[in-house]
Amino acid sequence: MAKIYVFDHPLIQHKVSLMRDKNTTTKEFRELAKEVAVLMGFEATRDLPLKEVEIETPICKAKVNMLAGEDIAIVPILRAGLGFVDGMLTLYPNAKVGHIGMYRDPETHEPVEYYCKLPNDIDKRRIFVVDPMLATGGSAVDALDAIKKRGGKHITFMCLIAAPEGIKALSEAHPDVDIYIAAKDEHLNEDAYIVPGLGDAGDRLYGTK
Ligand code: PRP
Ligand code: URA
Repeated sequence: MAKIYVFDHPLIQHKVSLMRDKNTTTKEFRELAKEVAVLMGFEATRDLPLKEVEIETPICKAKVNMLAGEDIAIVPILRAGLGFVDGMLTLYPNAKVGHIGMYRDPETHEPVEYYCKLPNDIDKRRIFVVDPMLATGGSAVDALDAIKKRGGKHITFMCLIAAPEGIKALSEAHPDVDIYIAAKDEHLNEDAYIVPGLGDAGDRLYGTK
């Protein structure tokens, strides 16, 4: 069964609260998204394998731990997931980046896939799928289906705000995928927006509304 991890760290809570505020500017929102991605990415990668290597400190030779070099792929769900990419790349500058384009049909709220480009060796990579909002869960479920169809196996999902409906849908459809959530909200409204949420993450990130 997948791990569902909801962050309670005060720094993350504080930054997410700033992002919720409708008076937060696009520039601030973008900066906060990057900062939260770094903080979340730090925890979500806690189980990355280490290897022991010998180095020389100014004092003596020493055996120390370094990352074993597991290959990583970051896969944002477009558009809003792009806001997490810079933060993740700050932690893992050598990661490859795939993209999945999804939009929600405004009437049905069903996800529509319009783009998918993943690293060729996606089947061998540890994959972090990022998207700020997990509302009905439809976009995340379909994005993970698309990645698995192309060979992706070891997948972690990271989002900023999740509704109970989305967590249920995603964990039932993909019980092998760990889910990292900065804040869990109350419910969805009649337009399938998260309440209280932060509004439309893509519009907040790119100033399109
Ligand atoms: C938002 C968000 C998720 C999706 C979540 O994207 O970034 O991808 O909605 O909703 P769901 O869980 O009900 O599927 P949106 O469709 O608004 O596209 P955008 O990122 O291009 O703005
Ligand atoms: N997509 C968003 O951007 N916000 C929501 O609250 C739900 C879906």
